[in-house]
Amino acid sequence: MCGIVGVLGNHHVAPLLVEALKRLEYRGYDSAGIATVNEGRLDRRRAVGKLVNLSDLLVHEPLAGKAGIGHTRWATHGAATVANAHPHRAGNVAVVHNGIIENFRELRAELTAAGYSFESETDTETVALLMRHELAQGGTPAEATARLLPRLHGAFALCFLFEGEEDLMICARKGSPLAIGHGDGEMFVGSDAIALAPMTDRITYLEEGDWAVITRAGAEIFDARNARANRAMARIQVDATRIEKAGYKHFMAKEIAEQPVVLADALRHYLREDGLNLPAGVDFTGVDRLTLVACGTAHYACHVAKYWFESLAGLPCDIDIASEFRYREPPLSDRGWAVFVSQSGETADTLAALRHVQDKVARTLAVVNVTTSSIARECDVTLPIMAGVEVGVASTKAFTCQLTVLLTLALKAAQDRGRLDAAQLATRLADLRLLPGLMNAALALAPEIEGLAEELAKAQDVLFLGRGAMYPLALEGALKLKEISYIHAEGYASGELKHGPIALIDASVPVLVLAPRDALFEKTVSNMQEVMARHGRVLLLSDQPGIAEAGADCWRCLTLPRVPDLLAPILYAVPAQLLAYHTAIAKGTDVDQPRNLAKSVTVE
Ligand code: M6R
Repeated sequence: MCGIVGVLGNHHVAPLLVEALKRLEYRGYDSAGIATVNEGRLDRRRAVGKLVNLSDLLVHEPLAGKAGIGHTRWATHGAATVANAHPHRAGNVAVVHNGIIENFRELRAELTAAGYSFESETDTETVALLMRHELAQGGTPAEATARLLPRLHGAFALCFLFEGEEDLMICARKGSPLAIGHGDGEMFVGSDAIALAPMTDRITYLEEGDWAVITRAGAEIFDARNARANRAMARIQVDATRIEKAGYKHFMAKEIAEQPVVLADALRHYLREDGLNLPAGVDFTGVDRLTLVACGTAHYACHVAKYWFESLAGLPCDIDIASEFRYREPPLSDRGWAVFVSQSGETADTLAALRHVQDKVARTLAVVNVTTSSIARECDVTLPIMAGVEVGVASTKAFTCQLTVLLTLALKAAQDRGRLDAAQLATRLADLRLLPGLMNAALALAPEIEGLAEELAKAQDVLFLGRGAMYPLALEGALKLKEISYIHAEGYASGELKHGPIALIDASVPVLVLAPRDALFEKTVSNMQEVMARHGRVLLLSDQPGIAEAGADCWRCLTLPRVPDLLAPILYAVPAQLLAYHTAIAKGTDVDQPRNLAKSVTVE
């Protein structure tokens, strides 16, 4: 997590740094800070909480200087205080850091023994002091960096600024991404290209272990063995309009509303008039096992996809939470494929899981939104989900786009394994093409959902139930509600309720049942009856036949369009998202930047 930016500019850089940090605030918002060199003097400003607090501070205590670095923090080591905020300074050095220095305790002990003292609880200050120490041993900042980097264990991105050096930044990456931006007589560093988008579209991505000495004339890049390295410069297109709220009150509201459009984009990308359109390397003939790995919402997308791969293609499919995957030593097949699903493409656990399987499976596939991300670059095949930039911490359009891409992949597996003939495939594709229209119909439920949310906002606990592929959707609905409204919510497989969770049911606990009128409906209705017999308040989300059959005794009902079974998990995501959104609004929480969270989780 944490966002990093650096600028060697031709004008005072503080406003540019703050603007870039705004675009990086999705990575953390516990504190923010900037440092500049002005007339040779290094100085900094830091503030706790959101970036607006730093902006306010800068109004009263401006910071001049044409060279500067900035940081937005998601706290790992030490609470969100000014002392723990970046940039960290040690004498003539300031540094901003994303990631974790795993051996910071040893380094701290060593530096303390050498007579240095610490002002913060962070691992980052150790790096600043170590750089100060190396500089004191003699040589240039670049020579000091070459000596310092091998001493740091863990995953990190760093950017240094030095007192007396107005035309120098040094940055390094190991595990965490870092982009160098090329301007006209100006140079930039950023955690991602989006942060640099208004300043330049010419980007060089550092590779694993790289570090760079940057002046206004350009960047000299070195690899992990300190040998000069050539890294390509690419022109990156970031559609700035997709980073604006476009009249919506929150990014989350905009991103929910965008779903019909972005799903249509994804379908255009993966469907031809007469069939599927997946990259040449995607042929499931001979593949004996699929392993899907991801975190959070992306993991729930994998969970839904497991039902599809198994039922459509008869392909054995394991799903794993990325943070657990490596540690349970899963058996992998050299004829198997591993699929890594991630909106950001930078989630540390998912990336580590990918690296774990690299030489153990036949092929790795990335299902990502950010196609320039580490996961995309390190997988054999990339399948973009086409969702456009997602800013809200709660993942919405990325989830439905992930599902859509995974469904096309499952159909391809079914086709390659001889489980679908041409006519059956054509029917499935015709169904898929209905999705954007169906999503529009689901979005039209927003006013009704707003009313329901007023009621949900009064609850302390909420349960979500679903069966079959709607079970992972119950998990996703609960995650969405808890992360932005802070109401305790759990998702269960409907049939599992009576094995324990039913003890929670009383008249104060709303139970949301996600149940299209499908082959499993009757069984889910029985579980609903068990809830109602214990005075539980059931909110039934179903279609018109389902509501007609089982809605009568429910506390509330929401009628969704009738939908082909395969598409139900995609469609029912919309009311789950809207319920979470409007409940959070009713509770007055910070929808786009909920407490304790960050959009991109780049630490394990
Ligand atoms: O960028 P990723 O898709 O890899 O992120 C995975 C999770 O961190 C993410 O889905 C998280 O659970 C969201 N906040 C859920 O809304």
